[in-house]
Amino acid sequence: MKILIRIMMLMPLGLLAQTSNIVLPQDKGPDKIDVSGYPAPTQAAYKVFSSKCSKCHTIARPINTMMKRDEWERYVKRMMHKPNSGIGDNQGKQIFDFLVYDQTTRKDKDPKAFFPALSDEEIEKLKKQ
Ligand code: HEC
Repeated sequence: MKILIRIMMLMPLGLLAQTSNIVLPQDKGPDKIDVSGYPAPTQAAYKVFSSKCSKCHTIARPINTMMKRDEWERYVKRMMHKPNSGIGDNQGKQIFDFLVYDQTTRKDKDPKAFFPALSDEEIEKLKKQ
């Protein structure tokens, strides 16, 4: 029982270190999207995405990662729920819509140019290196 309490006390410490300190293959790709052909609301959402999703890792990471709609949904929520993410519900929704639009109009047309998302296990392995 005592050991359990100790583990629980240490947990917040682990949660503080949220900045991504690993480099993923997709981090090295382009860090911009030409959104000039996207609808105006999507262009506005791109601005929110660029400012909010570059806080803890390069914006190149999401720009070059391939995900299906439900994976983006899960991922945006996961990023929003990281402590101090600074991403509110409305912004999260805007970013999600942007990512799905961009996925289907840009990435799905040329899948070889992008990187598949890593599994949680692969990310854990990189963190331990
Ligand atoms: C609070 C810090 C933080 C913010 C803000 C953040 N991320 Fe992340 N992101 C991380 C960390 C840390 C990882 C490494 C994996 C993990 O620990 O969950 C990561 C990993 C990723 C990955 C890699 C997934 C894979 O499997 O290859 C993608 C894509 C991603 N983030 C997208 C986003 C998007 C989109 C946003 C904006 C909605 C965002 N991130 C905002 C911390 C953040």
